[in-house]
Amino acid sequence: MSTSSHLSRQDAAWAAVPRDVRAEVRKWFGANSAGDTRAPELWLKGANLLMPKLSALARRGQPRLRHCTYKQFNATGTMELKSLFDHYGSDKGFDTHALHHAYAHIIERLGGRHAPLRVLEVGLGSRNQAVVSAMAQHNAPPGASVRSFRDFLPNAMVFGADVDEGALFNETRLRTAQVDQLERSSLDALYATFGSERFDLIIDDGLHAPGANLNMLHFALDGHLRPGGWVVIEDIAWTATHLWAVVDRLLHATEDGIETCLFLGRKTGQGVYYMVRTSEAAAVEASRGTRKRPG
Ligand SMILES: C[S@@+](CC[C@H](N)C(=O)[O-])C[C@H]1O[C@@H](n2cnc3c(N)ncnc32)[C@H](O)[C@@H]1O
Repeated sequence: MSTSSHLSRQDAAWAAVPRDVRAEVRKWFGANSAGDTRAPELWLKGANLLMPKLSALARRGQPRLRHCTYKQFNATGTMELKSLFDHYGSDKGFDTHALHHAYAHIIERLGGRHAPLRVLEVGLGSRNQAVVSAMAQHNAPPGASVRSFRDFLPNAMVFGADVDEGALFNETRLRTAQVDQLERSSLDALYATFGSERFDLIIDDGLHAPGANLNMLHFALDGHLRPGGWVVIEDIAWTATHLWAVVDRLLHATEDGIETCLFLGRKTGQGVYYMVRTSEAAAVEASRGTRKRPG
């Protein structure tokens, strides 16, 4: 293929991209230089370098992002939680996910299954195929995982949320509401709807896109998670782990006593899960004014 035909094909492809999308891409990845608008293919080259290079910088002189596996967790009730996931039709208990090990462990560390926990999960499992990240039609009705948590935790309140209003329902100790996790104001409104009381565990099983994940993490750490509480970001693509290496370095640099790990399922190939536990001690120090907050 000649260089000129290669370039003209690229030009045609870029011309087909809507103008506002091109402007957004250029805003973040364009060159601050003359002639930049004539070479949009360079924006993509730059964009593809950003995360791997940030991740390489974040890993310099540091041990890699800590991994954890189901073998490290041995909490009571693990298999009962799996049975509930299977019973209601959630994929959380599949070998590819093995999340019953992780959640039973988290619940044990939050005071056990009889503690009066407040659990929030974003992503109910809509079957509306027009919604990105919906479950397939043949899957169980929405609410499989929140119902499992509600049954596993007899004294908890479980809250669920989804962008699809058709997925919402209310049952004993289980309330749901609409949210768009890409909008911080929508998450804040959700918090008010659910009583403005901090959550013990926040689960992101929604859109599964980096921006949405970061919005959830920021919402959680911004006063909506209790000290010692947990956040789990589910179904992260292996290719996106560069981002989590950067996030991990930032969290450990800014949050005293925070614990994090990248949880791997029993079988690889499906995705990985980023688990965060905030510190109780750091919050006590901060409330006494004895701890220096980073600027
Ligand atoms: C994988 S399903 C959740 C499965 C469920 N947690 C379970 O284990 O049974 C993902 C859900 O995320 C929802 N979703 C997609 N985009 C969203 C957004 N921007 N905000 C909130 N929820 C979203 C979809 O409607 C879908 O119901």
